[in-house]
Amino acid sequence: MTTQKDPKRLQKILQEAAKQARLEDAGDVQPSFTHHEADWPIECTVGPGLEGAVACESKVGYVNGEKGALVYRGFDIFELAARSSFEEVSYLLLYGKLPTRRELEAFNDRLVAYRHVPKSLRLLMGFPVENMNVMGALRLGTNLMRQEFTSLDRLSGRPDPVSAIGSDEDSMGMERPPRGEHDATYEFLPKGASAPCRSAEGTESCLHLISGVATIAAAISRIQKGLMPLEPDPELGHAANYLYMLTGKRPDPESARIMDVALILHADHGMNASTFATLVVASTLSDIYFSIGSGIAALNGPLHGGANEQVINQLEEIGRPENVPGWFDKARTENKKIIGFGHRVYKKYDPRARVLGPLAEMLSGSCEEVTSLLETARVLEKKVIEELGQDKSIYPNVDFYSGLVYTCLGIPKQMFTPTFAVSRVVGWTARVLEYLENNRIFRPRAIYTGSFGQRYLPIEERRD
Ligand code: ACO
Repeated sequence: MTTQKDPKRLQKILQEAAKQARLEDAGDVQPSFTHHEADWPIECTVGPGLEGAVACESKVGYVNGEKGALVYRGFDIFELAARSSFEEVSYLLLYGKLPTRRELEAFNDRLVAYRHVPKSLRLLMGFPVENMNVMGALRLGTNLMRQEFTSLDRLSGRPDPVSAIGSDEDSMGMERPPRGEHDATYEFLPKGASAPCRSAEGTESCLHLISGVATIAAAISRIQKGLMPLEPDPELGHAANYLYMLTGKRPDPESARIMDVALILHADHGMNASTFATLVVASTLSDIYFSIGSGIAALNGPLHGGANEQVINQLEEIGRPENVPGWFDKARTENKKIIGFGHRVYKKYDPRARVLGPLAEMLSGSCEEVTSLLETARVLEKKVIEELGQDKSIYPNVDFYSGLVYTCLGIPKQMFTPTFAVSRVVGWTARVLEYLENNRIFRPRAIYTGSFGQRYLPIEERRD
């Protein structure tokens, strides 16, 4: 007997999550992190890891950790998840307003066009992608996209490498094309075609990245499985296309919508580590592709976006739900962090986990693979909140349930963090565009705790 799906079940989850969040609402916006116009220099108390430091002003989004609330451009995340689409949210984050129908259509057309990144993929396939860390490959992919889009590295004004190196007698033999073979070097562009030469700044590069990173991520997953990358389907939206290019199957409308919601939930999140890394690079006037590459690198860490993959490993390690108490006690004795819990900013339940938890629950009914992991996850959540909720404000974060949802959508474990990047590229690009309007290079200080006045001892006088 097949059970009939309630067509409104996703909507109900989003409504319930919003309701629960409102019930726990503890106060209003925090005055120290919400000014209409900041009066610099700002007084703030800074802890290690820049905790409490204010890096810049932004109108892109706001995280209220005391309230467990997340806002994009003034809109509550629950409302956007319930009523919007990833494309519309991308427009909102980049341009600061909801698009009209015509603006959204034009925006979509550009995303459809930028979803094709053939030259980047061709170049990527020349690398040992099957043996690479997926986030490393994705980072490389953004570099290749930079090359495809801008050809900045082969500007016509640069000296011809052969004649330039020719002035260096020693390297002549090595660097010259083989004798008599003028065309020996591989040309990636068809003969006669002029390389596009566009700026690597500006909104077009942002759209290129938002759209293309999804194609590259999906392609990496397929290459790692020994499969050829798939062309995007112009009939599908961003979320559905991502699932299609990844799995080879066109998702049913509910799965596409769940992917869409997950992408919306991950699109932006204040001055988190990867966003900060992105802005630091952008502030040097290095370009947007390099900036996004550093965002990807920062997101990869297990204390940040890499946690979603580690959560599944942790749940597998725990095994059955009845193992939770013993596993938890051991982890506490060993002073280990429970992955998928805790947050620098949230001192309440992460609003994104409020949606992802019930989504995992909803999907687990038809996804045997996660049924027992979810049971263990629920018991672990209860235990962690009982033991650490009150005292240390430790609750599940976005990464605790996202992997279970992704598994049900057919996304392999090593693609969880890249999937996070597929969404977060919007927040990164929106914030870089905004920051560069009033750029100031990031240059904090460190407290020197070393010694002074050391005398240099020649190596022969040093003792082992
Ligand atoms: N498990 C157990 N204890 C925790 C956890 C956790 N996951 N997180 C924080 N704590 C405890 C700390 O041990 C510390 O206790 P103490 O005061 O007795 O020393 C206290 O809570 C404060 O923790 P900090 O490490 O100072 O918190 P910080 O803000 O530096 O770290 C972080 C935040 C990195 C997210 C941390 O909670 C953590 O490591 N969590 C696990 C990894 C994880 O899930 N990361 C994903 C975060 S969401 C994201 O980035 C997309």
